[in-house]
Amino acid sequence: MKKGSIVEGIEIVDIGAKGKVIGKKDGQTFLTSGAVPGDVVTIQIKKSKKNYKEGFLKHIEKPSADRVNPVCEHFEYCGGCSWQNLDYKKQIELKERGAVQQMKRIGGIEEPNLIPILGSSETFHYRNKMEFTFVSERYLTPEELSSPEIKKTPALGFHVPGRFDWVLHVNNCHLQNDVHNAIRNFIYDEALKAEISFYHPRNQDGIMRNVVLRNNRQGEWMVLMIIKERTPETDALCQKMVDRFPEIQSFWIIVNNKVNDSFSDCPAELFHGEPHIIERFHRPDDQGSVDYIIGPKSFFQTNSNQAEKLYEIVYHWAGIQATDTVYDLYTGAGTIALFVAKLAKKVVGIEYVPEAIEDAFKNAQLNGISNCSFYAGDMKDVLTPAFIEENGQPDLLITDPPRAGMHSDVIDRILEAAPKRIVYVSCDPSTQARDIALMKHKYRLVQMQPVDMFPHTSHVENVALLELIEVGDL
Ligand SMILES: C[S@@+](CC[C@H](N)C(=O)[O-])C[C@H]1O[C@@H](n2cnc3c(N)ncnc32)[C@H](O)[C@@H]1O
Repeated sequence: MKKGSIVEGIEIVDIGAKGKVIGKKDGQTFLTSGAVPGDVVTIQIKKSKKNYKEGFLKHIEKPSADRVNPVCEHFEYCGGCSWQNLDYKKQIELKERGAVQQMKRIGGIEEPNLIPILGSSETFHYRNKMEFTFVSERYLTPEELSSPEIKKTPALGFHVPGRFDWVLHVNNCHLQNDVHNAIRNFIYDEALKAEISFYHPRNQDGIMRNVVLRNNRQGEWMVLMIIKERTPETDALCQKMVDRFPEIQSFWIIVNNKVNDSFSDCPAELFHGEPHIIERFHRPDDQGSVDYIIGPKSFFQTNSNQAEKLYEIVYHWAGIQATDTVYDLYTGAGTIALFVAKLAKKVVGIEYVPEAIEDAFKNAQLNGISNCSFYAGDMKDVLTPAFIEENGQPDLLITDPPRAGMHSDVIDRILEAAPKRIVYVSCDPSTQARDIALMKHKYRLVQMQPVDMFPHTSHVENVALLELIEVGDL
């Protein structure tokens, strides 16, 4: 099949990786984007591989019964919510099926005991953090390019997927509470009025670079204004924002004069208000609440309502007793550790990022929790036999690694330490299944439950409970 050829009558049967969908026709497999399972489509081939062909979506011949109209005006080009055209019930059905399939195929577990997926209570406005980029010339859609009147005005919005220099201007985003649209549009208008230049990523000039908006469920906001240099005009703009939006409890200025957009290593200066905002999570069974400090660079789960429910699942499944030593691997700012600490004798948290560990100590102090200790470093280097000897054998272990899953050395250490239960939280069920397969000779998968933290995207979180197989059980 040649590049450029048109293929009609492809039935979309499943979802694939990276937001793509899988189609079938005459026993052949096709990949495309922009369609949903159940659609029958025409595509134009752009890549022809031995096992599959990939193509641009040309036409939807017959729409799927699960198609819905996307709410967002930017849906077609933004790429942020690529499943917004799919009914939410179908989204979570696909996520659940995907997690089960990975556990069967990669984990080698025939019939995982599935607790039905926990859908998100909110499918919009669910994020507590969004980052937007300023550029001096906005991305023009193909339709706009064909219109001679359209000008390349400055933009404040999202990168077009895969392009560092194309930014789609955003008027209205549905992912964060509406206040964020008002704040973002205000900054854009006022920066233009004040004639403060927007960054040009190729020329590497211009002042305005990024803005990050964070909020908690109590309606307090934090703004991080990232600029190439601080000037009287930028200060005046920041002051206007603070005067206009009393919800802004914390306002930071970060000067980034590097070529790339990453600002984690740039100094932050507090411009207004408190250095942090606080998010409160309630423990189940009237066991009180935990307050978490969110600083300008703190890692915090981005869907607070779902994260709270995810932590509740961990809390219940871990079955912690008052005499238990618990390890919380990949602890971030100690969030899960502190959530469960009340149940345990002690909790040991380990995390790569030293600033997150500083936040974990602050969080412990803020909540008056004294039975947690936290250590910074690479898991495979920190979690050694000597470390375990010093901190105590784990009776229970909670692990929440990044998408890559756990290093094989870490898995070996866990197998040696042999905690009686492991609660494995994962943001990538395929690496979780791989890791569980490596522990299968010693641990039995009791149950798993996917949790949807990111509606309208293909991402899904999965919680798995593993139990040590006693010698007599074999
Ligand atoms: C999915 S997050 C979980 C954070 C935390 N459990 C929570 O709920 O907020 C994964 C964490 O693992 C940390 N991490 C990534 N690679 C690591 C490594 N090699 N060693 C230790 N921690 C690591 C990341 O910095 C991040 O905080």
